[in-house]
Amino acid sequence: MKRYQMYIDGEFVESKAQNWFPVYDPSTEEVIAEVPDGGAADVDRAVKAARAAFDSGPWAQTTAQDRGRMLFRLAAKIREEAAALAELESRNSGKPIVEAEYDVADTATCYEYYGGLATKVLGFVNPVPDNALSLTLKEPLGVAGQIIPWNYPLAMAAWKLAPALAAGCTCVLKPAEQTPLTILEVARWFGEIGFPPGVINIVTGFGETGAAIVAHPGVDKIAFTGSGEVGKIILRSAADQIKRVTMELGEKSPNLFFADADFEAAIDGALFGVFINQGEVCSSGSRILVERKIYSKFVDAMAEKAKTIKVGPPLDRTTKMGSLVSKEQYERVRSYQEVGKREARLVSGGGRPKAFEKGFYVEPTIFADVDNSARIAREEIFGPVASVIPFNDEADAIRIANDSPFGLAAAVWSRDIFRALRTVKALRAGIVWVNHMQPTYVEAPWGGYKQSGFGRELGPWGIDEYLEVKQVHINLSEQPIGWY
Ligand code: NAI
Ligand code: MG
Repeated sequence: MKRYQMYIDGEFVESKAQNWFPVYDPSTEEVIAEVPDGGAADVDRAVKAARAAFDSGPWAQTTAQDRGRMLFRLAAKIREEAAALAELESRNSGKPIVEAEYDVADTATCYEYYGGLATKVLGFVNPVPDNALSLTLKEPLGVAGQIIPWNYPLAMAAWKLAPALAAGCTCVLKPAEQTPLTILEVARWFGEIGFPPGVINIVTGFGETGAAIVAHPGVDKIAFTGSGEVGKIILRSAADQIKRVTMELGEKSPNLFFADADFEAAIDGALFGVFINQGEVCSSGSRILVERKIYSKFVDAMAEKAKTIKVGPPLDRTTKMGSLVSKEQYERVRSYQEVGKREARLVSGGGRPKAFEKGFYVEPTIFADVDNSARIAREEIFGPVASVIPFNDEADAIRIANDSPFGLAAAVWSRDIFRALRTVKALRAGIVWVNHMQPTYVEAPWGGYKQSGFGRELGPWGIDEYLEVKQVHINLSEQPIGWY
């Protein structure tokens, strides 16, 4: 069994307290590695290294071109090692290998995108009315503390590291305790690529480790993706030092189907929207809203097709749904399956597949006739559990869709362009797909309305979250100000 070290100040190190924790293959429940449990002392070392690298190290002198090239080299290395990374990602998270391969490719694309964007951070000339030159400069905002979840470990690390590094920040990143392995493999290349010590630090551990990063006075900004519960704790802690915060939190994304949608594509889109990555997706289309005219045919077709989804070992290339990430997540999803049986009509799945003795597998589960006030329609499950809800007309669909504390993503399916566009405008969500669900591109912004968080990742918006704005006023008049 492999014992990993974490990456601080350019070195692989153990935790100062010499504590380790086990990391699992959730599909077999076997321990596959041990990882240091980073404590406050380790966080302190990492933040001080990041602080020194930002304030006075060679990183502060790098050009945007240099930073861009480093990101391109990192992307190239990830592409070279894609097969091994995807296998480890799949093994550690339980996701199907085919999906892990997509994730690794997306991860490399994200580093490439921000490698290119590093040289396109533009300033501004402000048209002030005096004899002066007024400029706007964008500058890196400092040390970024980055706390990520377990559903897309490598991609989530890239969404946080890539824009921060392109901007010229330094980073202390904590992977989720369930899935710290792939980013630790990637960290082996940081030095040879040319990132100076302290620029990227990977500290492994649990919630307390994350909390120590948030509380540390040397950290300027926190970027977090995870549960709303932890999001609130982080906001309170960050308030003490007025830290910048961006958050990407919970979902209960509506996927709306009008009767005029292409029926086959709609069924596929409904299933894909909610069951991809075992439903462990922040934008999971877990509320499926269907116009009454096609409702019963739609529910039957969904239930029928869901039976063909192959739940299997993550490394099997024919697997469409692997295992959930952890025992905790398994128990959570299993309990919501039971809640659903009390609240609505079960039409598919509802339990654990019989084929497996071990592993955190659950069946793709569909509940029909769900009321939007039911717990399974309101609470984030973060697993393969769909709630199908009927609606009468466009206004009813929009009302139900927006009746949620969350607003990350939504989708609408219709062949009527006027209706589709009216619905797009009416939906309170940061991402709206039309006749598709889940495509995610590093070039386009990602983030939520309402309790799904604030700030945007990806695209040019992603780098702005790591930049400060400085106004510079240059007096061009040679006269004294002449006030006194
Ligand atoms: P979590 O929010 O507890 O964990 C996310 C990250 O935050 C992990 O790295 C964790 O170690 C860290 N963390 C935990 N407590 C912290 C604290 N007090 N201060 C700083 N960092 C802390 O999520 P968890 O427990 O893994 O999953 C629970 C539920 O959260 C899921 O069932 C799902 O509903 C939701 N979730 C949402 C995600 C999203 O992408 N929006 C991702 C993961 C989970
Ligand atoms: Mg938690």
